[in-house]
Amino acid sequence: MKTILITGGAGFIGSHVVRLFVKKYPEYKIVNLDKLTYAGNLENLTEIEKEPNYEFVKGDIVDGDFIQQLFTDYDFNGVIHLAAESHVDRSISNPMEFIMTNIVGTVNLLNAAKSHWEINFRGKLFYHISTDEVYGSLGEEGIFTEETAYDPHSPYSASKASSDHLVRAYHDTYGLPVVISNCSNNYGPFQFPEKLIPLFINNIKTNKALPVYGKGINIRDWLYVEDHAKAIDLAFHQGKSGETYNIGGNNEWKNIDLIRKLCEIMDTRLERKEGTSEKLITFVKDRAGHDLRYAIDSSKIKEELGWEPTHSFEQGLGKTVDWYLQNEKWMKRVTSGDYQKYYEQQYG
Ligand code: NAD
Ligand code: DAU
Repeated sequence: MKTILITGGAGFIGSHVVRLFVKKYPEYKIVNLDKLTYAGNLENLTEIEKEPNYEFVKGDIVDGDFIQQLFTDYDFNGVIHLAAESHVDRSISNPMEFIMTNIVGTVNLLNAAKSHWEINFRGKLFYHISTDEVYGSLGEEGIFTEETAYDPHSPYSASKASSDHLVRAYHDTYGLPVVISNCSNNYGPFQFPEKLIPLFINNIKTNKALPVYGKGINIRDWLYVEDHAKAIDLAFHQGKSGETYNIGGNNEWKNIDLIRKLCEIMDTRLERKEGTSEKLITFVKDRAGHDLRYAIDSSKIKEELGWEPTHSFEQGLGKTVDWYLQNEKWMKRVTSGDYQKYYEQQYG
């Protein structure tokens, strides 16, 4: 029996990882540690919350004593660390939250793993989930490989870059077994509607303006979230200690083209006249320090671990739109704030 700590499991990607691990590995005990910030929603996990191999713990990774105690109580074999402040725009208005959770929180987890495991590191793993944003911004040419030098621009990406460096430092200095993966933009069910795709789906549905930053020329590499969760499963079980794996969709889209595509799908699904949703597009002030282009070379994880995305964008985006349209209640509870009452109702 292995006991695995997954941090940030009530968030978007974390909830997909928790669901995958709870279902696929009944022989593991999965402990989901989450502070339940505005981005944490236990309603993302109702499908597995009663499974005997799942446990939820509410707590803050910034509290070092609490984290040490948690490692004593559960004797974890592995950690998959996803908890973070994750929205770039929020990092521009409030960087300190990002410094505390993404940097100090990560160091607290590293310290606890080091002190509980250092008698014998064998069979242990600290897996840190990171982002392609640490590599900075590309021009029209080029692609991020695992060797690309770090060049973060936003407080969010700088805090993630910092945490990556610290994870590597604990490996190089203390021998802590670690794996890091850097992934491109995820999309899919259960994403908080502050991020581009769910925000725009909801705005189209409710006939609100679609705020496109700048000229809409920025490019992102989109990956369906379940494909990311599968990559995390592989890298956790087969990744080599000390290694970094880039994970991407090989699926670059200029924002404005993606938004037009989304408008087209929404017009069809909502049986609106062609071109109705596009009329909601409104160009607004650009994001400060807005990175122009991200693109990931995922050939290393493909060659070494046999991972490849399984969803085409057409398929993934269609599935995503359908999910949000079929889960109106989820969206309403998130936008009204009602989802934050779930913890009290469920756990008292
Ligand atoms: P999210 O914002 O949806 O979820 C983050 C979760 O962390 C929430 O449940 C929140 O309650 C929890 N959390 C925040 N602060 C905490 C704290 N101090 N203690 C305990 N829990 C805390 O984020 P996401 O989009 O699911 O991203 C998850 C991870 O993946 C992050 O590390 C992010 O940097 C990384 N990542 C995200 C993307 C993406 O496109 N969303 C891409 C690559 C990497
Ligand atoms: O690349 C991986 C990163 O992807 C993750 O590390 C981050 O956690 C995640 O939030 C995401 O960051 P982005 O900033 O790329 O995602 P976001 O959905 O905020 O924005 C995507 C693009 O759309 C970006 O170029 C900004 C633009 N945008 C976004 C919003 C919210 C708009 O034009 N209008 C908007 O209202």
